Amino acid sequence: MRRIFCFVAAAFAFTALTAFAQAGTAAQAGAPAQAATAARERPLPRVVKKDGRYALFVDGAPYLILGAQVNNSSGWPAALPKVWPAMEDMHANTVEIPVYWEQLDPRQGQFDYSVVDTLLTQARAHRKRLVLLWFATWKNGQPHYMPEWMKLAPERYPRLIDERGRPMDSPSPFAAASLEADSKAFAALMGHLKTADPQRTVLMVQVENEPGTGEDYYDHSPAAQKLYEGPVPADVLKAMQVHSGTPSPNWREVFGPDAGVCFHNWSVAKYIGQVAAAGKAAYPLPLYVNAAPGTHRCSAVREPGAPGYANGGPSDNILPIWKAVAPALDLIGPDNYAREGPAYVKVLELYRRDDNPLYIPETGGSPRFFFFALGHQAIGFSPFGIDYTRIRVIPDPARPKDELLVPWARTGTREFAAPFAPEYGVIAPMAREIARLNFEGKLQATAEQPGELTQTLRFGAWDATVSYGVWARTGRPAGNPEPMGSALVAQLMDNQFLVTGFHSRVDFRPAAADRHRQFLRVEEGTYENGVFKVLRVLNGDQTDGGLDFYAEPLVLRVSVATY
Ligand code: DGJ
Repeated sequence: MRRIFCFVAAAFAFTALTAFAQAGTAAQAGAPAQAATAARERPLPRVVKKDGRYALFVDGAPYLILGAQVNNSSGWPAALPKVWPAMEDMHANTVEIPVYWEQLDPRQGQFDYSVVDTLLTQARAHRKRLVLLWFATWKNGQPHYMPEWMKLAPERYPRLIDERGRPMDSPSPFAAASLEADSKAFAALMGHLKTADPQRTVLMVQVENEPGTGEDYYDHSPAAQKLYEGPVPADVLKAMQVHSGTPSPNWREVFGPDAGVCFHNWSVAKYIGQVAAAGKAAYPLPLYVNAAPGTHRCSAVREPGAPGYANGGPSDNILPIWKAVAPALDLIGPDNYAREGPAYVKVLELYRRDDNPLYIPETGGSPRFFFFALGHQAIGFSPFGIDYTRIRVIPDPARPKDELLVPWARTGTREFAAPFAPEYGVIAPMAREIARLNFEGKLQATAEQPGELTQTLRFGAWDATVSYGVWARTGRPAGNPEPMGSALVAQLMDNQFLVTGFHSRVDFRPAAADRHRQFLRVEEGTYENGVFKVLRVLNGDQTDGGLDFYAEPLVLRVSVATY
């Protein structure tokens, strides 16, 4: 059974905690108010579903993860001084940071929580929440974070065997001892959090990282082969809606050329489902896995030539298998590295499902994609590679051809993090309001797509029109020199809207054809402790042609009427 809290059960906590959330800036931003509440146990973070929409409830109210993921080796205490400044500069409220199995479990079963405790202490001091990433059996399909005592005993903790009988650089999902060790260590981590984190600094935990194996590989060990030749389990048939004429059909009979992909997904999902269940039994925080869409032929959004380490990871067309056999997972999040807007949106559409809250655990590309995510009801968004562990030398004599660098060669620098700061900066003071409005279905957000000059967001009696590249008082939109525009509109009352964006013009139009819009009041302001504080009223050149958003953060509360 999925651990989605029913809304009724959460409603009481929501009301009580809304008052709490409005009580102080720290709580508003989601950061623990240290001194006063250090020992007080707060409500557990929960994924809540209502009217087909999801929210992550933190301290009893919807919370938007303005996330940022550090580089893979930045979860060590020595690296943390280079993590927090990047989080501040970017206005992130939540840090995604790894916990390494090899560090936590250096001598089998003797767990070392010192690094986790450092993360908790420092996150609280910096008023950030955490999403912990359990780098364990799988990290990008590989077993590189297994403790040494496992790496040195391959017969007990075997790797996947390819079709020619060779061990691969990927763990076997049928390794019973590995499953037992991972489950034990993960349960220990979660149990430790249960006692060490009454403040709920940790909001969610990712189980493994981009699990699976390269290309079309699946385990060919004798035990695995026997299962592959045997019948497809009934829960898989049901999940994939397969009605076979053959009694007890095997994987090949059911899935044809995709038999290996489905078999491997089933085996990896079953393994991770058991690790997750062990952790959840110790401490029931929301848990998820991250997928690498766009990297495997079974994904609808694959990019030709991209590395193929996603087989066995939850690509979009295999999600039902994961949902069926790994129910302890609250969601499956796409690591969305699509570089073009249409592909980016396609990934969001595929992972926003009635049975799956949308969370983007890793991302890159244009900062405007954040608005696409909000427009698809995401509970959070997290660019990868954010910390200041590197210094970028420009021009770099060792790398004269900058454009040839793979994206992650640029991570860990100020230049890499900086582009996301305006988008997060404008949303951060009102992140709680944005999360609530999205949960209530009152928010729409969008961004510029190539060749799409105008977009319409519909709000019953009003349409909000978003245009790109129109800066004269009247004039036709021409699009920005490259797609960079974005807009967010939320309905506060029948005729009142919250509006923000970048490089775009927003206007309102009555849905009734014979009416015209007039602005009653356009207020520039900012949210403070849940209350909109008006800084000035815009009129004249600032509103006569519509509401223009440039590179500067600008938040408007707009009251409209018809004439
Ligand atoms: C996706 C992985 O999940 C991350 O841990 C990292 O390896 C990036 N790819 C690339 O650096």
